[in-house]
Amino acid sequence: MKRSIAVLTGAGVSAESGLGTYRDNGGLWDNYDPMEVASAEGWRRNPKLVLNFYNMQRAHLREVQPNEAHRIIAELERDFDVDVITQNVDNLHERAGSTRVLHLHGEVTKVRPENCCNDMDGFSERTVFDVGYGEVHLGDKAPNGAQLRPHIVFFGEAVPKLEAAVERVARADIVLIVGTSLQVYPAASLYRYARPDAPIYLIDPAEIRLHDPRVQHIRMVATEGMREFVLQIKK
Ligand code: OAD
Repeated sequence: MKRSIAVLTGAGVSAESGLGTYRDNGGLWDNYDPMEVASAEGWRRNPKLVLNFYNMQRAHLREVQPNEAHRIIAELERDFDVDVITQNVDNLHERAGSTRVLHLHGEVTKVRPENCCNDMDGFSERTVFDVGYGEVHLGDKAPNGAQLRPHIVFFGEAVPKLEAAVERVARADIVLIVGTSLQVYPAASLYRYARPDAPIYLIDPAEIRLHDPRVQHIRMVATEGMREFVLQIKK
């Protein structure tokens, strides 16, 4: 039987594709106030601003490609049973070939009616539409007549896929964390569900303090770090 790996990724895995991270110097949240463009309150106050922000994200995503880190993660499926659990709303893991990707914070290429399914059972996927890299505007309605909103977990909203993510981490033989500042909860606490015997690897060029002696920090950017990780698990 293949060993299993739960790969927890954040914006850092997509940085070398040209997508900015959120909290690094010059990151998205330096230029935009997340409470304006990515919160439940912001959506109520000014949905047009929020729609425009995600229209811009989609336009940017259309221009970029998966990088070697996404590809190595996808290739791990040859030898391991791999679950990717990403905070990212981009589709670069899927485009690199990963087949099991759970998006904790939603997907920027999708929308859903604003009056529906922001509950704990997973947005009821039936109401979610794929818009690809297209724009969504005020007045664009779902079949139920409601305004379309980004299929994104806004600040101030529950994380419906959390339980499924916890299960995937808890059953993994190896846990790998790539490119996340671990500032946003509950995503940041997921690695704590790792089995006591599971090694935990962390790939991030920045100093990130995790209070777990098992954590092996590969202090490199995602592409280099993934190459190093593959060498280490083959040993
Ligand atoms: P952050 O911007 O908070 O953290 C990015 C991490 O990536 C940092 O630890 C960087 O050191 C690291 N990093 C930068 N360049 C890297 C590279 N080339 N290779 C590897 N790592 C690199 O992003 P997240 O932790 O993903 O939520 O942010 C979590 C959530 O906050 C996001 O999902 C988003 C945001 O608000 C929503 O939009 C709901």
